[in-house]
Amino acid sequence: MKILGIETSCDETAVAIVDDAKNILSHVLNSQIKLHEKFGGVVPEIAARSHLEVLDGLILEALKKANLKFEEIDAFAATCGPGLIGGVIVGMSAAKTLASIYKKPFLAINHLEGHALTARLTNDVKFPYLLLLISGGNCQILIARGLGDYEKIGETIDDALGEAFDKVAQMLGLPYPGGPAVEKLAREGDENRFKFSRPLLDSKDESHRFAFSFSGLKTAVRREIEKLVGENFSHFTSPQKISAKDRADICASFQKIVCEIIVNRLENTLSFNNFPDVSSLVIAGGVAANRYIFSRLQNWAKSHQLEVITPPISLCTDNAAMIAWVGIEKMKMGISDDLNFKPRSRWELK
Ligand code: KG4
Repeated sequence: MKILGIETSCDETAVAIVDDAKNILSHVLNSQIKLHEKFGGVVPEIAARSHLEVLDGLILEALKKANLKFEEIDAFAATCGPGLIGGVIVGMSAAKTLASIYKKPFLAINHLEGHALTARLTNDVKFPYLLLLISGGNCQILIARGLGDYEKIGETIDDALGEAFDKVAQMLGLPYPGGPAVEKLAREGDENRFKFSRPLLDSKDESHRFAFSFSGLKTAVRREIEKLVGENFSHFTSPQKISAKDRADICASFQKIVCEIIVNRLENTLSFNNFPDVSSLVIAGGVAANRYIFSRLQNWAKSHQLEVITPPISLCTDNAAMIAWVGIEKMKMGISDDLNFKPRSRWELK
């Protein structure tokens, strides 16, 4: 079985063809970073137009690379949410059109489920597993029990983790997207220099036991920059006034606190719940590309006999192989979707 998957929910247009033996037969991707970097974030209208311009060409390229014809594809899958709705509509409409022309099933894929199940494509992970979903739009702890079967343990009450990385990077004058830039600079920095606050960790409120909050941490970083440069923070002047050493130390200290927060939340997850069948922790989403976070979590997980699994970096950030793969999992269960399926800007995993 071969499935063509389309991803257009944010700033990457991607098409992949994956088979049920877990081979990625082709994967082509057009990043829009260059279009959005001058704005410091994704501009939805620009994103949607760019998806529309390049998607047809990418679909043909993916078929060519896999040496396949449209007729040889068994189903057409596309991200139908959550995401920027203009982009989602572009990818979803293309998959629906191909499905109706070639009389094959259409598969409406939840983008978050794509991230959640990638480790089953790359590492053969068995359900149930503990899932830390950390991306540009999310920060959640879940138990993945099966296809379409998730239990959410906790999530962020404000910023997503990738968003926090991006905002800290922006305050430091680093390029967009900020996560990789922060990780790189942090390698040269002193992670013990700045003691940023650890939001929610000292909260006695039981409802916050598994929750994340990063907006306070972002403010703490801003205050520290203000002290270092001796002025109220300005995006125009402050980033240039920070020394290279201070910048690296902020990145390292920020990453260290982020890991302490994640470890504390995972520790609570295991202390206050009983998951006897869970033997792996899967880290998924764009921030899972961060090797420092991975190695810190690996150290923590040893004490709980958990195996930590993260997909290769190219499949942590947005991609279409994960969308085609969820398509394979759905087809194996005999599930397909109606051509009336409506795009969803919000779509929780549950
Ligand atoms: O999953 P993703 O590609 O997009 C969605 O959110 O859908 O994640 C993008 C996010 C961005 O915020 C980016 O800064 C972050 O993942 N990211 C990283 C790293 N690589 C990407 N954050 C920290 N360290 C990294 N190495």
